[in-house]
Amino acid sequence: MAERRDQSLERQDFAWLVLMSLIFFGLVAIGLWREYATAWRPWQREFKLVLAHAGRFQDARKFQPGIRQIWNPELGVVDRCVSCHLGYEWGGILPAALRQPLTPHPNLSFMNRHPFDRFGCTPCHAGQGWATNAHAAHYGGGGWEEPMLSRRLAAGCGVSEAELLQMRCNFCHRRDRSTQGMDAINLAKTLIKKKKCLICHSVEGQGGHSAPDLTYEGDKDPEQFDFSHIAGARTVFNWHVEHFIAAGKVSPKTAMPDYDMPPDQARALALLMLSWRHINYPPQYIPQPQSAPQTAATPAASSNH
Ligand code: HEC
Ligand code: HEC
Ligand code: HEC
Ligand code: HEC
Repeated sequence: MAERRDQSLERQDFAWLVLMSLIFFGLVAIGLWREYATAWRPWQREFKLVLAHAGRFQDARKFQPGIRQIWNPELGVVDRCVSCHLGYEWGGILPAALRQPLTPHPNLSFMNRHPFDRFGCTPCHAGQGWATNAHAAHYGGGGWEEPMLSRRLAAGCGVSEAELLQMRCNFCHRRDRSTQGMDAINLAKTLIKKKKCLICHSVEGQGGHSAPDLTYEGDKDPEQFDFSHIAGARTVFNWHVEHFIAAGKVSPKTAMPDYDMPPDQARALALLMLSWRHINYPPQYIPQPQSAPQTAATPAASSNH
C-alpha cells in the first residue's frame, strides 16, 4: 500500500517535471523569437545586401546584426534610430535614392559641425531615441511629449520639415543673430527688432515689463492658452500664428497690436516662440556668440577705447 503511494507520487512528480520543462522550453523559445523578430532586423538584413550591391563586400561581411545606438550622456542622447537608419553616414557611397530608413543623411553644409557621434539624431529631429520600433521612435511611446518633427507634423503647421526642425536648431543657436540653414528663425529674429516687440515684452532680462516675459515661452503648456477665439487648429503653434496676425481677436482687449502680418512671417515667429525653452545642454554644445558687429558696437565695448 505504502509502496504504491510512493509510486504514484513519483509519477505525479514526473508529470510536474515534464510540464515545468515544457513551460521552460516554451519561454526560451518565445525569448529567442522576440530577440530575433525585432523591427530593425529586416532593415539590417537589407542593408547588408545594399552594401554588397554597392561593391562594399568587406563592409557587408563585417556587418554584425544587433541594436545600434549613439550614446552621449552630456546631451542625454541614447539614439537607437541608427538601428534602422543605417545609411546615414554613407553619403557619396550609397545612392541617395535608397528608400528610408537606409538613405544616407542629406548632405547639408552644416552637418560636419554637428558630428553624428556627438549629436546623435534627436537633438535636431526629436522623437524617442531609445525606442526600437518605428512607431514608438517617430511618434512617441504613448505620450506625445517630444514627437519627431516629421513631415506630417510640419504639414499640419503649414511649414516644411526643414523649417520645423529650425525650432530645435534654435535650442542651441538662440543667441546667434543669424545662422546658416535657419532662414525662418533668422527672419523671425529680424521681425522681433523691426516690430519692436521688446517695448512691451522682456526676453532674457532685456525689454519692457507691460507684457508677459517671453524668455521661456516655449515651455508653456497648451492648457495655459485660451483657444476660445482660435479659428483653426487648436495647437499652441497655431495659437501663436493667429495671435501674431490679429492679437486683438485672439486676446480681446490686449495691448498687443494687430500686426496683420503675412502668414509666413507669423509662422516664423511661432517657431521662434516655441524654440525659447529652458535648455540644459552643457556649454560646449552652445555655439559661441558670433564675433558679430552687434557686440562690437555696444556702448560698453566702445567706451573702452
Ligand atoms: C524600427 C526602425 C526605425 C527606427 C528605430 C527609427 N526609424 Fe525613422 N524611419 C523608419 C522607416 C521604415 C521610415 C520610412 C517610412 C516612414 O516614413 O515611416 C522612417 C522614416 C524616417 C524619417 C523620414 C520621414 C518623415 O516623416 O519625416 C525621419 C526623419 C526619421 N525616420 C527619423 C528617425 C529618428 C530621428 C529616429 C530615432 C528617434 C528614427 N527615425 C527611428 C524606421 C525607423
Ligand atoms: C544638426 C541637426 C541634425 C542632426 C544631428 C541629424 N539630422 Fe537628420 N536632418 C536634419 C535636417 C536639417 C534635415 C533636412 C530636412 C529637409 O530638408 O527636409 C534632415 C533630414 C533627415 C532625414 C530625411 C527626412 C526626409 O523627410 O527625407 C532623415 C531620415 C534623417 N534626417 C535622419 C537622421 C538620423 C537617423 C540622425 C542621427 C544619426 C540625424 N538625422 C541627425 C538635421 C539633423
Ligand atoms: C545641441 C545643440 C545644437 C543643435 C540642436 C544645432 N546646433 Fe548648430 N552648432 C552647435 C554648435 C556647438 C556649433 C559650433 C560647432 C563648432 O564650433 O564648430 C554649431 C555650429 C553650427 C553652424 C556653423 C556656424 C556657426 O554658427 O557656428 C551652423 C551653420 C549650424 N550650427 C546650423 C545648425 C542648424 C541648421 C541646426 C538645426 C538643423 C543646428 N545647427 C542644430 C550646436 C547645435
Ligand atoms: C504694445 C505692447 C506689445 C507689443 C509691441 C507686443 N506685444 Fe505681445 N503681448 C502684449 C500683451 C499685453 C500680451 C498679453 C495679452 C495677449 O495675449 O495678447 C501679449 C502677449 C504675447 C504673447 C503670448 C504670451 C503668453 O504666454 O501668453 C506672445 C508670444 C507675444 N505677445 C509675442 C509678441 C511678439 C513676438 C511681438 C512683436 C512682433 C509682440 N508680442 C509685440 C503686448 C505687446
